[in-house]
Amino acid sequence: MDKLEDIIKNVELLIDNSLQTISKIKNLDELEHIRVSTLGKRGSISILMGLICGFSSNDARKKIGLTLNDAKITISDAINVRKIILEEQILNERLGYEQIDITLPVRNERVGRIHPISQTIDEVIAIFGQMGFILAEGPDIENDENNFKALNFPDKHPARRMFDTFFLPGKRNDSQLLLRTHTSTVQVRTMLIQNPPIRIISPGRVYRRDFDMTHTPMFNQVEGLVIEKTINMSHLKGCLIEFVKTYFEIHSVPVRFRPSFFPFTEPSAEVDIGCLRNNGELKIGLGTDWLEILGCGMVHPEVLSNCNIDPSKYQGFAFGMGIERIAMLKYGIPDLRNFFCSDLRWLKHYGFMPLDIPTILGGLSR
Ligand code: DAH
Repeated sequence: MDKLEDIIKNVELLIDNSLQTISKIKNLDELEHIRVSTLGKRGSISILMGLICGFSSNDARKKIGLTLNDAKITISDAINVRKIILEEQILNERLGYEQIDITLPVRNERVGRIHPISQTIDEVIAIFGQMGFILAEGPDIENDENNFKALNFPDKHPARRMFDTFFLPGKRNDSQLLLRTHTSTVQVRTMLIQNPPIRIISPGRVYRRDFDMTHTPMFNQVEGLVIEKTINMSHLKGCLIEFVKTYFEIHSVPVRFRPSFFPFTEPSAEVDIGCLRNNGELKIGLGTDWLEILGCGMVHPEVLSNCNIDPSKYQGFAFGMGIERIAMLKYGIPDLRNFFCSDLRWLKHYGFMPLDIPTILGGLSR
């Protein structure tokens, strides 16, 4: 038997022994040990490879190389198969002894609750998002231009008294700084930077110098704006009626559009929903009473021009509503001021579970 045959024989022996050992291995550590001692850098295969240089004949070198490569593949395949089998065995054993006792009481709740304002904003976004509205934002600190002037409130116009404004020292772009009194500022900001078609909603904080049972100096609003070539009042009506039904999760809510006045819309309307007041209880969707929930209208041509949009080509509608107000109505929250008290007992009662994210398909508030 010449030297080449000796080597080939050794390789065959190595394969036989390895396959036998591998098939009997019971744990992953042992398997890894075998892998290192046969296929590793200083393992049997590498040592046998080293013998190649003792042969001058190309054929002999080739033969040893090929045989060792085949051996490597065979052993490594066997190791991989064994690994899969062992891992499955380990998993099955774990599944056998790791059981979940579903009769155990649930763990104490450690996470907090979602504030009803955040919940309501999420619901409003989910509804208008479904209708193709995009979220837009603007800053709380604004200037007179965006809060009033561009929205068709001329200087000293009596309509400015609709709001008790917090003015700040200083000016931006020659315009008095203030805390925005409404989210309609985002209409202006959006139209100034975006060409129609526009379809946005913009929730956010607003500020007015007012504090009593039904007013707080800071509260939340959501503004909506749609600008296109052929948008008209019937689109506004359809959109808001759909919103009311979806938001209150009631099939048919009586909705009334009552003529009103806002400097930035013409015509303007306020939207009332039908309700029943009985012994201090309020039921939405029933009865003969009406409750105002939002302001809306067709964007005034002057506002479009102020924002560099040609009113002879484009028109649109806008609406604005108070978040706390619609939250109070839907969730039966009686006092507005509690929204801002940071009373954990109140939040525990009126708050929402963190993972119950409102979606139209999954349910808004269930
Ligand atoms: N900005 C108004 C307010 O704060 C609400 C409003 C009314 C917004 C009519 C609108 C609208 O966009 O068209 O009272």
